[in-house]
Parts: sequence; structure tokens; C-alpha cells
Amino acid sequence: MVDLYPLARPFLMAMDAEQAHNLTIAALKTGLVPGGSRRDPDVLAARVFGLDFSNPIGLAAGFDKNAEVPDAMLKLGFGFVECGTVTPRPQDGNPKPRLFRVPTAQAVINRFGFNNQGLDAYAARLSARAGRPGIVGANVGKNKDTVDAASDYTACIRRVAHLAKYLVVNVSSPNTPGLRTLQSRDALADLLGQCLAARTETGATPPLLLKVAPDLTDEDKADIAAVVLDSGIDGLIVSNTTLARPAAIPPALAAEAGGLSGRPLLEPSTKVLGEFYQLLGGKLPLVGVGGVSSGADAYAKIRSGASLVQLYSAMAYQGPALVGRIKAELAQRLTDDGYAHVADAVGAAHRKG
Ligand SMILES: Cc1cc2nc3c(=O)[nH]c(=O)nc-3n(C[C@H](O)[C@H](O)[C@H](O)COP(=O)(O)O)c2cc1C
Repeated sequence: MVDLYPLARPFLMAMDAEQAHNLTIAALKTGLVPGGSRRDPDVLAARVFGLDFSNPIGLAAGFDKNAEVPDAMLKLGFGFVECGTVTPRPQDGNPKPRLFRVPTAQAVINRFGFNNQGLDAYAARLSARAGRPGIVGANVGKNKDTVDAASDYTACIRRVAHLAKYLVVNVSSPNTPGLRTLQSRDALADLLGQCLAARTETGATPPLLLKVAPDLTDEDKADIAAVVLDSGIDGLIVSNTTLARPAAIPPALAAEAGGLSGRPLLEPSTKVLGEFYQLLGGKLPLVGVGGVSSGADAYAKIRSGASLVQLYSAMAYQGPALVGRIKAELAQRLTDDGYAHVADAVGAAHRKG
């Protein structure tokens, strides 16, 4: 199918960012998606937390909050798609405008605040596609006004454990007040224990991952690593958006509240990823996300310790053909460096020689 994105891009870029996103989802729902139907090269195949990925490049959470277009995104060539963040009850999120492009920095600032249609709509859509091929993960969170956070996470897990290939406990959005405090040692140990128990109750065993923020002190990181290893969860996603405002962000936009993603997040999030790889001693698979817009960026994440990579913001600037470009470039780099499989390059930056 012809890629219409180059034609649509100027119109999308001229629109309000959230409207452009909604239009993109609507277009994807028509099913008229350019197919990246070519088979992925063997060098990109990866087996991670018991799942077989045809390539390690995934769509990060937040693009498809309501699980409306996972199959369209798989068809574009992503090796996996993470839907959500979903909360038990529908919620509107923060007042608009709440999504801002920063084109000069290839960055995005958002303060959506978990706007989503709620668990019923989300689970119904996942249920309707049950049995279809492709790795679709479910990213879960809490409603803004819920006091007992764990009850929201466990409600989501109970509902989607049979419908998703993996689960993500998202405690790292900067846009839900208090959410990030769930990353502190005791709160996290308690939350992960309850989430794992909820998964066990369902009888399903999808891998359970934790998604963390990039803005963590050394003590936070050491605590999280200890809790994660102790808890028995299956992996870590590093990272969500940052509250930092690097110099590349023009002052007027830097003043907007919310999480920053895209190119300026590449270096800090990859650094935190590498730190977690070392803290965890390579014992747990990591998913590297933040600022990936090329095969070289994806390769840097893998060499720093990521078994899988995700992206979101770069697609807003480069369109869906980006996925194919990243895969081709990554395959070339792996082959040039003599790696037969992605797994062989994971953490290479930390090894001598
Ligand atoms: C508009 C927008 C909405 C997002 N919503 C979510 C979300 O609901 N849940 C979540 O875990 N991450 C969310 N994220 C964070 C992304 O999944 C990702 O961690 C972050 O954007 C860094 O990757 P990137 O630089 O490739 O965009 C969102 C990001 C953006 C830009």
C-alpha cells in the first residue's frame, strides 16, 4: 500500500498536536495502513521474558491509550505494541491544551494525565482481537482520585492478564499527582507484591514489568533495583518522560508543565538504563525507551543493556516509515559488528574489549 504520510504530514503538523494525534488514530482505525509486511531479518529476532519477538522495536505506551489500533501498529512493522495507560474508570485527564510539540528539539511535552476510556472499553477491544498474532502488552495505572493505588493496579491486572502478552505497572507518569512516590522502596515492594498476587489469582502468567521515571537519585535507583530483584517481577522499562528541561527547549515551551520526551531524553534515559543494567547485574531484561529516532539510537540502548527498545515521540516527526528505517539500520549495525543476534549485543557497552 502507498504511504500517504508524506502527503499528510504538513497538514498534521499545522494542526493542534492532540487533534493531529486523534486524526492519526482515526486514520489507523480504517485499517488502510501501509504494510511493513516484509519478514524481519533473523538477526533482529529476540526471545525475551519467554516471548518471541520478530524484531526488538516496540511502540511505547501513550500512543494507543485505549487499545484501538494495536494490529495496525503491528502491521506497520513494530515488533510489539504497548497499549495504555489504562485506569479502572474512564477519565478526562488534564484541561487542554496538554500536548506540545518542540520541533526545534524534536521533542514533545505532554501533561495528559491518563486521559482514557477506562478498563471496560480497553478490555473489550483486547478481547475482540484475542487469538490474533502479535505481541500486545497492557500498561496499567490508577485513577487520579483513587486513594488505594494498589486496588486500581490489581483491578486492571485481573481484567487484562488473559488478554495481554505482558503487563506493565506504570508508576512513572509525572502527570498524576503522587504517582511517582510509588517508586519509593516500601511502597514499591508492597505494590509489586499485590500486583504479582493479582496475576497469580488469574491463573495467567504474562510477564509483569515495571516502568520507571528517568528522574531518580542514586539512592532511588539502588532501592528500585533491590525491590525489583526481590519481588520476582520479570523486567523493567526505562524510562518514562522527564521533568527536566534541557537547554535545547525554548523558554516559552520549557515553562509548560508535563513530561518531556523525544531527542533530548535519549542521553539521560540511556544513562539511567545503563545504570539499572549494572545494578541488576543483567539478571532481568530491560526495555530501553526515550528519544530513539534512528537505528543508531536503538543500538545504543541495546549496547547499554536493553533487550528490547520502544519509541513514541520520533514517530510524530518522522511518520510510520521510521520503524522500517530503524530496523534496517539496526540489522546492519549488528551484522557489521559481527553479532548474530540482538541478544549478543545486549550490555556490550559495559564489557571490556
Ligand atoms: C503524548 C505522550 C503520552 C504518553 N502517555 C504515556 C502513558 O499513558 N503511559 C506511559 O507509560 N507512558 C506514556 N508516555 C511515555 C512514553 O511511553 C515514553 O516512555 C516516552 O515518551 C519516551 O519515549 P520517546 O522519547 O520515544 O517518546 C507518553 C508519551 C507521550 C509523548
